Amino acid sequence: MMTAMHSPVLSMKGVCLSFGAKRVLDGLKFEVARGECFGFLGPSGAGKTTTIKLLTRQLTADTGRIMLFGRPIEHAGGADCERIGILSDTSALYERLSIEENLRLYAKVRGRGERGIDGLLERVGLANDRRTLIKDCSKGMRQRAALLAALIHSPELVFLDEPTSGLDPAARAEVHRMLGELRRGGTTVFLTTHDMAEAEGCCDRLAILNEGHIVALGTPTSLTMEHARNRLVVTTRTRGTIELTKDAAAAEAVRDLLAANEVLSMHSDEPNLEEVFLELTGREL
Ligand SMILES: Nc1ncnc2c1ncn2[C@@H]1O[C@H](COP(=O)(O)OP(=O)(O)OP(=O)(O)O)[C@@H](O)[C@H]1O
Ligand SMILES: [Mg+2]
Repeated sequence: MMTAMHSPVLSMKGVCLSFGAKRVLDGLKFEVARGECFGFLGPSGAGKTTTIKLLTRQLTADTGRIMLFGRPIEHAGGADCERIGILSDTSALYERLSIEENLRLYAKVRGRGERGIDGLLERVGLANDRRTLIKDCSKGMRQRAALLAALIHSPELVFLDEPTSGLDPAARAEVHRMLGELRRGGTTVFLTTHDMAEAEGCCDRLAILNEGHIVALGTPTSLTMEHARNRLVVTTRTRGTIELTKDAAAAEAVRDLLAANEVLSMHSDEPNLEEVFLELTGREL
């Protein structure tokens, strides 16, 4: 079973999709490994939700190859569906049912018992609101309920489209804790977010999508390092702040400053993820 273990859980190659004359995805190529939390970033309208729809067969690509669980996605069947959980950007909950009734329904549809529901509600702080109808829920309550519904059958692969959008800091932290648990449990997560701190903190690797192209792919650290400016900033005792280019000449300058006991601080000048994002997409978050 070596191949199954090492083959990616999902992959895309040369995937293109147009809506009418508008090309929304243009040659997407990436792989997501088993157990990985893969962050899919990009400005509004970049094509993130569309990509999730392709990976969950709600849409079909014009060209290219999509593999899911080691097989072409066209061959995916009901059994594969059972292995997947989806938190979409639009709530799939029944408005006139309570949170608890929704979860019971989802458990039933997924062929699961209702035993785990109490614990799940407890974990995301919804135990006291369990009888609230979805139509009367706040955005954060809905989002947490929808997340539980997506996880109710313990899927091995979950697609989370902006799971923390609209959440207050406590609920957001709770979702991050759940993401941590999913990761530790070996669940593969495909996540979109506009929150760069979340991407950096929760994801093993990130892709940045811009106008249908992947413009960066790698670990959060590698993305910031790749875009590191070639500068060294030295704060000195009497000579102000000195900016040096990271080269052999800088070694000499730094040695002289250190010998003269001038150095108060010295650091390289890496951008943070937000700066990298803005540089690559030329847009606000
Ligand atoms: N069914 C559709 N018909 C026509 N155009 C569509 C359709 N669905 C999406 N689009 C267009 O495709 C582009 C990508 O949309 P998508 O929803 O994938 O963006 P996104 O990256 O998820 O954005 P956001 O961060 O706002 O959720 C947008 O220009 C959108 O208007
Ligand atoms: Mg979207």
